[in-house]
Amino acid sequence: MCGIIGYVGHQEASAVIVEGLRRLEYRGYDSAGVAILNGGIHLRRAVGKLINLADSLAALPLNGSVGVGHTRWATHGRPTEPNAHPHVVGRIAVVHNGIIENHHQLRARLVADGHVFSSETDTEIFSHLINAGVSKGLSLEDAVCAATKDVSGAYAIAVLDVDHPECVVVAKQQSPLILGVGAGETFCASDIPAILMHTRDVIFMEDGDMAILTRDGYELRRFETGIKVERAVTRIEWSAVAAEKDGYEHFMLKEIHEQPRAITDTIRGRISMADGDVYSEGMEITREDLANLRRIVIIACGTSWHAALIGKQYIEEATRIPVEVDLASEFRYRNPIVDSRTLVIAVSQSGETADTLAALKESQRRGARAAAVVNVIGSSIARAAGNVLYTHAGPEIGVASTKAFTTQMAALYLIAVRFGRILGTLNADQGRALLTDLLAVPGDVARAIELSGAARDIAKTYVGATSALYLGRGLLHPIALEGALKLKEISYIHAEGYAAGEMKHGPIALVDEFTPTIIAAPRGPTYEKTCSNLQEVAARGGAVIAIGDEDDDELRSMADAYLPVPRSTPWTAPFVSVIPMQLLAYHLADLKGTDIDQPRNLAKSVTVE
Ligand code: F6R
Repeated sequence: MCGIIGYVGHQEASAVIVEGLRRLEYRGYDSAGVAILNGGIHLRRAVGKLINLADSLAALPLNGSVGVGHTRWATHGRPTEPNAHPHVVGRIAVVHNGIIENHHQLRARLVADGHVFSSETDTEIFSHLINAGVSKGLSLEDAVCAATKDVSGAYAIAVLDVDHPECVVVAKQQSPLILGVGAGETFCASDIPAILMHTRDVIFMEDGDMAILTRDGYELRRFETGIKVERAVTRIEWSAVAAEKDGYEHFMLKEIHEQPRAITDTIRGRISMADGDVYSEGMEITREDLANLRRIVIIACGTSWHAALIGKQYIEEATRIPVEVDLASEFRYRNPIVDSRTLVIAVSQSGETADTLAALKESQRRGARAAAVVNVIGSSIARAAGNVLYTHAGPEIGVASTKAFTTQMAALYLIAVRFGRILGTLNADQGRALLTDLLAVPGDVARAIELSGAARDIAKTYVGATSALYLGRGLLHPIALEGALKLKEISYIHAEGYAAGEMKHGPIALVDEFTPTIIAAPRGPTYEKTCSNLQEVAARGGAVIAIGDEDDDELRSMADAYLPVPRSTPWTAPFVSVIPMQLLAYHLADLKGTDIDQPRNLAKSVTVE
């Protein structure tokens, strides 16, 4: 999992590349490098964050208008300078995002043939293979094609050749890669924000595509056959500043504040109040299709999995079709029972999570119908599923997912209503009522975000805690899991999320005065039971931070600290309840001084299995 970028044009390539890498740093940030073609390959690499590379280039610039760059998240080989990309062998420099699965065999073969490796990476295999190809007289593009025939696994590569100083050659298989077309300049990158300040005209490469980039444009071919192909140019409407921080100290805080707008964008144009129904363009399914289903399986990872757990409850309630939720990384390895009467819905912010993509493809191979809830347009999961409801959250840069989560819940809410209306398990009045509730969510979420100051005050009290418990029931159980995940990943405080009723079956032993319990208890079907769980914690000397209705003075009086949220319905309670948890995690992390947008050991887009 890494970010790559390539440039051929009239600007200083190193400046374009470093700026692009800055916007790709969310993909990994343990080392970075750049190679510039200018009478030879000029290489600069640095361990650690991109700033180290930028400083080194500022001190000793590399000039030239053709180059490639890379920001790394180590998979094969430690984060050291020799392992940082680009990898240069002979005439060739390569940057790579992905994993070469047969790298052991290929490396052994190359070593036996006399090749000497200078890194521990799988990527260097590409450099050796391509350099061997061009040394034997193959053209650069034929050498790249030949290398792709040897390599199995996932890759997006960008290649420089000293003997072709006016071009960059790229190839894509299972890792994301886009091209950008500018005036007298051409780009490639792992993701759109990397090139958005230069061009809005983007081509999404398909698996098996390679391209030759020159100042005048690009030529796309299939690398199996060499046959030229055309791909549509998509005009990207995001502004470059949409991917910037907008004055907030961190992307995460900005993205927390964006949620009212993001949720509005998810539901915008999709609601028909007259029919109490949803227009789910992109996610087409007929009554016959739905009636034929035996079950629905939702697959996802991490935060998206938490959204899926909520989606399950929405869809089951609306349709009475059994819904199973599975971690993509488990599903794909356990001979899952799916067939043509199963609908598999993949949920993913990035649309690039390797396990989710593989699980989706495995279900399709077994004959399942496929659909996806995805944020990133044109991403691999969106393209594999075909049937997609986009969340339209906009770029999420903070590694800890916030607006992606609430927009995924909103999308799944819409799907539940749509399916219920198609099947007739919801009548128009019921659909209308649920949609009216959903339309109130952006406003309620905006009010919940006003709790930021209160959350910071509470964080000051608990900044020394080393462990925390999160509790909720029903639709708020996944919210407890999500609250605990947010706290863990950005503040490094150990946290566990539990179904509140499970407390007395074990976790209550953890309760003491140093372990705060955060409990989501807005009024709803299991309100009284959750209050009892709160009292069980308080009775054992545990500190309780409660999230509840703003007019619930009784609950307020039971808790050590209270985060009052607008009144909600059972289906909208997850939205208003998760906001104070996001804020609490954010402020605890900020007070602890952690790297909130790029927490240690994590990366935004997990394109390794
Ligand atoms: C946590 C987080 C991750 C992602 C997970 C799946 O804050 O962001 O747990 O939710 O890596 O990523 P996507 O949704 O891109 O498939």
